[in-house]
Amino acid sequence: MKLVIQGGNTLRGKVRIGGAKNAALVLIAASAIAGGEVILDNVPRIADVERQLEIVQALGGRAEWQEQGRVLLSWPDKVAVAVPYQLAKKLRASNLFLGALAARIGQVRMPLPGGCDIGFRPMDLHLKGLSAMGFEVELEHGFINAKARELRGARIYLDFPSVGATENIMMAAVGVPGTTIVENAAKEPEIVDLASFLSGVGATIRGAGTDLIKIEGARAGVPASAGRAPAGACDSGRGARFSVIPDRIEAGTYMIAAAAVGAEVTIENVIIRHLQPVIAKLQDVGLEVAVGEDSLTVRRSGPLRATDIKTLPYPGFPTDLQSPMMALLCLVQGTSVISENVFDNRFRVADELKRMGAQIRVKGHSAVVEGPTRLLGAQVKAPDLRAGAALIVAGLAGEGETEICQAELIERGYEKVAEKFCALGGRIKYVD
Ligand code: UD1
Repeated sequence: MKLVIQGGNTLRGKVRIGGAKNAALVLIAASAIAGGEVILDNVPRIADVERQLEIVQALGGRAEWQEQGRVLLSWPDKVAVAVPYQLAKKLRASNLFLGALAARIGQVRMPLPGGCDIGFRPMDLHLKGLSAMGFEVELEHGFINAKARELRGARIYLDFPSVGATENIMMAAVGVPGTTIVENAAKEPEIVDLASFLSGVGATIRGAGTDLIKIEGARAGVPASAGRAPAGACDSGRGARFSVIPDRIEAGTYMIAAAAVGAEVTIENVIIRHLQPVIAKLQDVGLEVAVGEDSLTVRRSGPLRATDIKTLPYPGFPTDLQSPMMALLCLVQGTSVISENVFDNRFRVADELKRMGAQIRVKGHSAVVEGPTRLLGAQVKAPDLRAGAALIVAGLAGEGETEICQAELIERGYEKVAEKFCALGGRIKYVD
């Protein structure tokens, strides 16, 4: 699938942000821990979400769209232990069934997950966490096998505040007797959303959003066991209705695009607090950002200037917006240095931007962007989801026609992206 963009139009108007991909993906997995039916609202209809719902169905659960943005999930007494290879390979977030199934049935078999190729993405911290809580964990020919043995709360220090490891440990710990403490935990808003959801279905979790999270697990003597409903904290049979937080990365992408094309755009349905690192950086560059209660308006009234970016775990600048920022920095006056500190292979978009005329030098974990460059439309390929978003930014701001191949990767994380940009005045369409 290709996206074809005619560059040079300014953007004007309002765009509504959907539910956060990364929150929806973990909540879909976490529904396995609830005792009853779960209704999730504000779920983005994107490819990764569809795959995650297919995994629920493959495990024996019910997962269906009820209306725009609403998904109903429920799990039977008997749940399959193995996450199917073909589905797990399609997205990294399939790994979140590790913690969810560990809590529900005390047992999981899953292939090491797939997902965007943005560097080495090991699961050692997830597995270390489960082992510490008394799961027997084995890695065998690309598969993870985890089985409840002597479960007990544990104190787990993460060498890096991994989002996925924090989430898996939180979910697994709900089914583990005693108190589990995660130190150097990830602080992303999606972690707070997961904790609120789990609390809503009966778990006791404190500290989400800080680097120390405490989970009071199942009552002692009620270990999770295969084929049974979830033990302990969530055996109340309680279902839940929960609305997914807005997607700060989608919002940031529209802010960056607006900066790149010299627009005035109002971005609706956002949580301003979650966007602070992005707002601060775009103000540094010279963008005007007017903040409302749950919306913001960005306006470029003068020339933008270079800045340096260091990606960091939240509340640092998000790695998921590093590629779109790189596209923007190509257009501004001066030299910008980008340091990627979360993933080790997230500069592949630089080669594609260079096809459009960008001047970027990549060395190890840093990229030096020289601007301003007149980006010229070209045939490019989206090497991963966020790089694809960067190429949209470049295509909209560039001159002439840009054709982005492998655009289906963009569909993994952006709902109706062509439609939303068209509504703002962008000229962008899908071509099969
Ligand atoms: C999540 C997000 C992704 C985002 C990333 C960082 C989802 C579905 N995806 O990915 O969009 O870019 O957070 O904000 O929520 N690491 C280890 N060992 C582990 C786990 C991770 O070394 O066991 C390393 C990774 O290789 C990477 C870093 O930790 O360098 C961050 O990864 P992590 O926070 O786990 O990202 P994900 O949860 O995969």
